[in-house]
Amino acid sequence: MIKIDHLSTSYSTISGPVHVINDVNFEIFDNEIFGIAGESGCGKTTLLKALYDIIEFPLVVDSGKLVLSGEKNGKAFSYETGQIRKTWWDNISYVPQAAQSVLNPIVPLKNQFLDSISKAETMREPKAITLKRVSDYLEELSLSPDLLSAYPFQLSGGMRQRVIIALATFMSPNVVLADEPTTALDVVVQRGILMMLMRLQKKLRNTMVIVSHDMGVHYQITDRMGIMYSGSMVELGRTEDIFERPIHPYTKMLVGALPRVGDKSQKTGIPGRPPALTNPPPGCRFAPRCPNAKERCKISAPAFVEVEKGRFAACHSLMPMNGNREV
Ligand SMILES: Nc1ncnc2c1ncn2[C@@H]1O[C@H](COP(=O)(O)OP(=O)(O)OP(=O)(O)O)[C@@H](O)[C@H]1O
Ligand SMILES: [Mg+2]
Repeated sequence: MIKIDHLSTSYSTISGPVHVINDVNFEIFDNEIFGIAGESGCGKTTLLKALYDIIEFPLVVDSGKLVLSGEKNGKAFSYETGQIRKTWWDNISYVPQAAQSVLNPIVPLKNQFLDSISKAETMREPKAITLKRVSDYLEELSLSPDLLSAYPFQLSGGMRQRVIIALATFMSPNVVLADEPTTALDVVVQRGILMMLMRLQKKLRNTMVIVSHDMGVHYQITDRMGIMYSGSMVELGRTEDIFERPIHPYTKMLVGALPRVGDKSQKTGIPGRPPALTNPPPGCRFAPRCPNAKERCKISAPAFVEVEKGRFAACHSLMPMNGNREV
């Protein structure tokens, strides 16, 4: 499980801190595919970096923390912000945005696999044995072991992405974080990658966190999802419920903009743009684009509350309901 406990982060810049993650508070459960959605610049990658503990200048944690806990090979583990990197590859791995560019194009894939594995595994074994394990693993994933002799520049974008996912899952980590794993790939290849991720999650019985600005991706593979807007989480719940009954006006727009089979109505997209994080509006950051914004929305930011069991949202229009629990 990953507990994101009232986390706030910012980027230090010469004109002062840019607050990107604002009091984000939720949990990601074991054995689920959790999605993070939202428009470009809302902080999805920043949140994923925090989950993977890549807290490096100019990114700083202002308050709150993260706890990654679980059990592997019968042993319980728990790591907090600052310690999570000790367990990279083993208990948590990361497929970064534009991951294909992380492979060195002129180094054969087998060297890149061996390099990463030797950094992560404490157990020393002859290289030939590790290579045999890697080659068996690729076969299990329906990838040709011949790929190991190839250079990344010889592979298509989709194949490079598959290889990176194979590398990230080789050590059966409890958590795999994938940032825009299908962006910039054509739809057929996208579908193949999504199927691969789903199959892997079933096989490893682990947790996957998928960041994508594409709501279609979440609809297809995630169990639960969170919607981010301007550095805050504005809605969270079961994916099915979010698509069937979006609560937050921003989620309604995202869901409404998604084309559906048989629906011939004109899709208008979402009017306006998210605010600059350097100068966000006071109150609810979505208010300037919200069709239902009232006076109080321009003054105070709504709390992220549990509106029904397992369903959270941050909108003033939900506040008068009884029994809301602020988190
Ligand atoms: N190194 C940095 N210094 C200052 N600001 C940064 C830095 N990196 C990111 N930001 C700002 O943080 C905000 C969130 O960026 P982030 O990359 O997390 O968004 P995102 O939701 O992943 O966007 P995209 O969908 O385009 O990948 C952006 O407004 C960006 O300008
Ligand atoms: Mg991003």
